[in-house]
Amino acid sequence: MRNLIFNNNDKMPVLGLGTWKAKAGEVYNAVLEALNLGYRHIDCAHIYGNESEIGEALRYAFLKGIVNRSDVWITSKLWCNSHKREAVIPALKHTLKNLQLDYLDLYLVHWPVAFSPDTYPTIPNEFISLDEIPLSETWEGMVDAKEENLCRHIGVSNFSILKLKEMMAYSAVKPEVNQIELHPYLQQKEMLDFCNEHNIFLTAYSPLGTSEADKIMANKKETTLLKHPDIIHVASQYNCTPAQVLIQWAIARGTSVIPKSVNPERIKQNFEAALVCLSEEDMNTINQLDLNLRFVDGTFWVMEGAPYTLENLWDEQLIQVHR
Ligand code: A2P
Repeated sequence: MRNLIFNNNDKMPVLGLGTWKAKAGEVYNAVLEALNLGYRHIDCAHIYGNESEIGEALRYAFLKGIVNRSDVWITSKLWCNSHKREAVIPALKHTLKNLQLDYLDLYLVHWPVAFSPDTYPTIPNEFISLDEIPLSETWEGMVDAKEENLCRHIGVSNFSILKLKEMMAYSAVKPEVNQIELHPYLQQKEMLDFCNEHNIFLTAYSPLGTSEADKIMANKKETTLLKHPDIIHVASQYNCTPAQVLIQWAIARGTSVIPKSVNPERIKQNFEAALVCLSEEDMNTINQLDLNLRFVDGTFWVMEGAPYTLENLWDEQLIQVHR
């Protein structure tokens, strides 16, 4: 398995197991299945609500010698209700307790959005604007966490180029990773070039186009990625599956990728995508499919009277969202 190699020589395997929407009761087996198959990268987040069960699976895997802690890369994410500087370390400690770990390999600011502790905003005044808790303050908390060795690397998720540039201006510690939605319908070439230029790694989430794709694409003229004729055609040439093509396309672009599955066959199939080698011609075919279409479009942060809009979230004027 290829790795992305950090400045201190730490290695993040390019292919990891995603756990967003992996339900309690399913994720324990999924993580063990993945580790047994050879996955060495698990992507988690506090808000997924399944970290305790993942922690049980990790504990079992370490106990039984399936894998050593030092050989598996574990990422988690700071939730939006803990953006104040002094709230970051307690939130990370809570995640570590749930995962039954002493440290994370990577901790990310999940969204550039803040809200009150103990809430999931349902009314506008539960949001907190970035003027009140600036991202620079949250980032100071992340730097504190790294200095205390609670995590080896820090980064962000769902950040725009503008927000990355601002971070690089306000802090000497730059984010090492930006985890964003990336797939052939949302290729974000400008972001890829920017991150390559500044040595920031990108991790592709929802590389298969999310579990909601069927519903979301129902009112569009295009089909879902997994059913796209070009993807199916490329897959047939390598005797592999459309999902494997999508995963390998992400790896070939130099990003890491975290397809979610709780199904043993698909967990295996996705892992074996690392073995597919797409030709330049096939990469070019897939590169033509960009629609600048976000499935995880952030509309859940947008509320009349609240400080967040799609424009100030993504820092783009023209955004094709799915609704
Ligand atoms: P399941 O967990 O039942 O396998 P994404 O990572 O892009 O958000 O996609 C996740 C969705 O894709 C989940 O619904 C997952 O379901 C499904 N999925 C994962 N791997 C594959 C695969 N190899 N082929 C088809 N669907 C897949």
